[in-house]
Amino acid sequence: MKNNIILIGFMGVGKGTIARAFASEYGVYNIDTDDLIESKENRKISKIFEKYGEQYFRALEQETANWLEKCVKGTLVSCGGGFYKVKNLNKIGEVVLLDAPFDWIYNRLKNSPNAEAKLAKRPLFQDIKKAKALYKERKKEYKKVADFIIDVEKSSDKKILKELAKIAKLK
Ligand code: S3P
Repeated sequence: MKNNIILIGFMGVGKGTIARAFASEYGVYNIDTDDLIESKENRKISKIFEKYGEQYFRALEQETANWLEKCVKGTLVSCGGGFYKVKNLNKIGEVVLLDAPFDWIYNRLKNSPNAEAKLAKRPLFQDIKKAKALYKERKKEYKKVADFIIDVEKSSDKKILKELAKIAKLK
């Protein structure tokens, strides 16, 4: 894979799941911006929010984006739901939005085997009303920064992987 593929989208839409499936199917490396931040800070995202607040976390995302632009090539990057706001997003690679309605996302999270843990680790998904308002606020912004949009509600995982492979010029 020549360019990086940058997966963006709302919390719980399945960026990590798709990224892991794609990496194993096509033999590419996949990194996650939240994982990078957690390992650099040696703290979970929820603890970073708790201890230092959201603004501090956003600054860490920008730092991570700068590092990605400078140092990472040919990699699938799955991003935290607010990572799309970094200044250099389109310089890192081809930006692909995984798009789905809020209710679909909420049901996916709620019905997953470890639903409680999945919700607990997301500070901005503690209150459904607030999460829904955030979704509404971001919906158009995601589309503005995306080079490609994949409607995940209407696609099987297999089809999503094929679309990504096409974008990555792998097949
Ligand atoms: C956030 C999404 C989270 C994580 C942090 C903030 C957001 O990532 O980066 O809790 O602002 O939408 P996921 O999209 O993987 O849940």
